[in-house]
Amino acid sequence: MDEPIVVAEGLHKRFGDVHALRGLDLAISAGKVCGLLGPNGAGKTTAVRILATLADPDAGRARVAGHDVVREADRVRALIGLAGQYAAVDEKLTGRENLRMFGRLHHLSRARARRRADELLERFGLAEAADRVAGTYSGGMRRRLDLMASLLVAPRVLFLDEPTTGLDPRSRGEIWDAVRRLADDGTTVLLTTQYLDEADRLADDIVVIDHGRVIGQGTPDELKATLGNRVDVLLEEPGSSAVAADVLAAMTGTAPHAPSPGRLTSPAPASLRLADVVRELDRADVAVTDVTLRRPSLDEVFLHLTDGTAHDPPAAPDTSAGQDVPADPNGAVRQAVPAGRGVGAGQGGRVGGTARDDEGEVA
Ligand SMILES: Nc1ncnc2c1ncn2[C@@H]1O[C@H](COP(=O)(O)OP(=O)(O)O)[C@@H](O)[C@H]1O
Ligand SMILES: [Mg+2]
Repeated sequence: MDEPIVVAEGLHKRFGDVHALRGLDLAISAGKVCGLLGPNGAGKTTAVRILATLADPDAGRARVAGHDVVREADRVRALIGLAGQYAAVDEKLTGRENLRMFGRLHHLSRARARRRADELLERFGLAEAADRVAGTYSGGMRRRLDLMASLLVAPRVLFLDEPTTGLDPRSRGEIWDAVRRLADDGTTVLLTTQYLDEADRLADDIVVIDHGRVIGQGTPDELKATLGNRVDVLLEEPGSSAVAADVLAAMTGTAPHAPSPGRLTSPAPASLRLADVVRELDRADVAVTDVTLRRPSLDEVFLHLTDGTAHDPPAAPDTSAGQDVPADPNGAVRQAVPAGRGVGAGQGGRVGGTARDDEGEVA
């Protein structure tokens, strides 16, 4: 097989006392969407900046399409596009003018810049707003315009650094569509995100990083499979908890944990069948409102990876998302995304518990 189009080996980067990257390894196959997932401060932007030739590593090396990002930075730059959390859009120009300007900056001819701008505006659904000044655009529209600017010269590898952080759910959906369309065209995408649901939806492969190193990786399915299934039971009578717990323990080999009265949850061996759980509980005269056999959410995987402890959540207040939500049949993670603009606190599906220390959206 060909060498992956993006390769990082043992990247280290320090800023004074802060060790932002501690030996980061990464490999992305051509045409794939790789989700670099991690909480705020994990080292995502530092990694992207090094891969995009904007910063040099202190140690380690990286290649894009076989070119070293330090020694052959010019070659690399010609192959990549970069769009970030802070859209670099001129507010006084219209969307169309912005794109033409970026096209000229990329040394496209005037005619070619015009044509590319029109194509992209059409393709990413901004044609109607193309002649309005960008200062009137919503955060999502600016982000899309910024994304289009990075696509003017059809990069082979596109780096998207938190493209949806701070956007409302609808704008996030629009960016997701745009990324999917690019992936369908065969563009390799490295997307950083703090959102588990975003990585789950967009990425072929996920690399979870924290404190500058990789703590887990695989396809979303593989990551979830590392934790195995879970069985959740909601009892009609909380008083039957003890009996139900015995039944479940006998079936799963693990004492279940009770996130709230009348609710039991337990890791489930792959062989466990839902019908058997229902039958055994019935045989023990335990009345149930709901029994669910589900795959863990990426949230649970992340919690597991970051604290490195047992599969079972802690016994006291359970904060893991998805615990109260029956699984999607296809195992997709459901995340609560609050309505309205998602700037600031309470954005759904964010990994880790850390608050952002930077602004969600460019004003
Ligand atoms: N230019 C810089 N100067 C000092 N510290 C920095 C700089 N850039 C990043 N850091 C620190 O390095 C760590 C990783 O940052 P970053 O790569 O931006 O993480 P992420 O993008 O995952 O939020 C953080 O602790 C951050 O504060
Ligand atoms: Mg960042």
